[in-house]
Amino acid sequence: LAQDKKWRIGFSQATTIEPWRAQFNKDIVAEAAKHPEVELIITDGGDKTEKQVADVENLIRQEVDALLVSPKESAGLTGVVQQAIDAKIPVFVLDRNVDTDKYNQFVGGDNKLIGRAAGEYAVELLGGKGKAQGNVVEIWGGMGTQPAHDRHDGFHEFTDKEPGIKNLLDQQSGDWKQDQAYNIMATALRNNEKIDLVYGHNDPMAYGAYLAAKDAGREKEIKFIGIDGLPGEGVTWVNNGELSATFLYATPGAEGLRQAIKFLNGEKVEKTVTLNTMKITKDNAAQIMKDNGL
Ligand code: FRU
Repeated sequence: LAQDKKWRIGFSQATTIEPWRAQFNKDIVAEAAKHPEVELIITDGGDKTEKQVADVENLIRQEVDALLVSPKESAGLTGVVQQAIDAKIPVFVLDRNVDTDKYNQFVGGDNKLIGRAAGEYAVELLGGKGKAQGNVVEIWGGMGTQPAHDRHDGFHEFTDKEPGIKNLLDQQSGDWKQDQAYNIMATALRNNEKIDLVYGHNDPMAYGAYLAAKDAGREKEIKFIGIDGLPGEGVTWVNNGELSATFLYATPGAEGLRQAIKFLNGEKVEKTVTLNTMKITKDNAAQIMKDNGL
């Protein structure tokens, strides 16, 4: 019954067309099911900033008790997040940041750390510290997002120290999408006789690049690294030998909702909650799939 619902929590999701976000929504819905006192209202921005802005405005008008938001991009969502804060709605920013820190809490992975782990592994795959050699294709996520910049910066902290590593592309964004990454890679393959490693800012893009290389008959010469580590995609692709590694980027769905409820119940919450990561290679991929019933 509606009157049993003590808290109305709004969650503005950027899009649900990407598999990681579909999982994110599943995680938050599963967590909400454990809290009968919570009514969770989820909106879908359809991968469009304007739509997501309208969604948040709508949730503000509905006077939700707390707002969770996972922005499509930082700049475009900052104003409306500020509006929610001004309306005294507790705000929890999930996964992708906005350009203000006046919100109550940020919950997400440490993208700089993940980028560093990917960079360190890339150096290892290309021959090791001080000896690494190779041509690298990096496919960026959305340029207007903090995760893409952090994943880039962290990676280059390692690879830029290697004089033998050459970057073939300059800030080419596949906007987190497999098909866009496929096209970027198809062009890179046409323009470069030798490509040794692809770093995709997420698994769908690393896999899109793999498929382009496969269609060009060159996938065996190239190592592919991604990020996200969903059991049904990234981990499976690693297990198949299509990607060399992926790095877990856990969805903040369950934790974000738990934190908001904690706050609404009068408890203190940290400004930042950082979710754990792990490296996934052939060594542990099969086990992770098994643990997830695959
Ligand atoms: C999904 C996604 C994930 C990625 C995250 C970064 O929309 O692109 O693949 O890890 O967003 O914010």
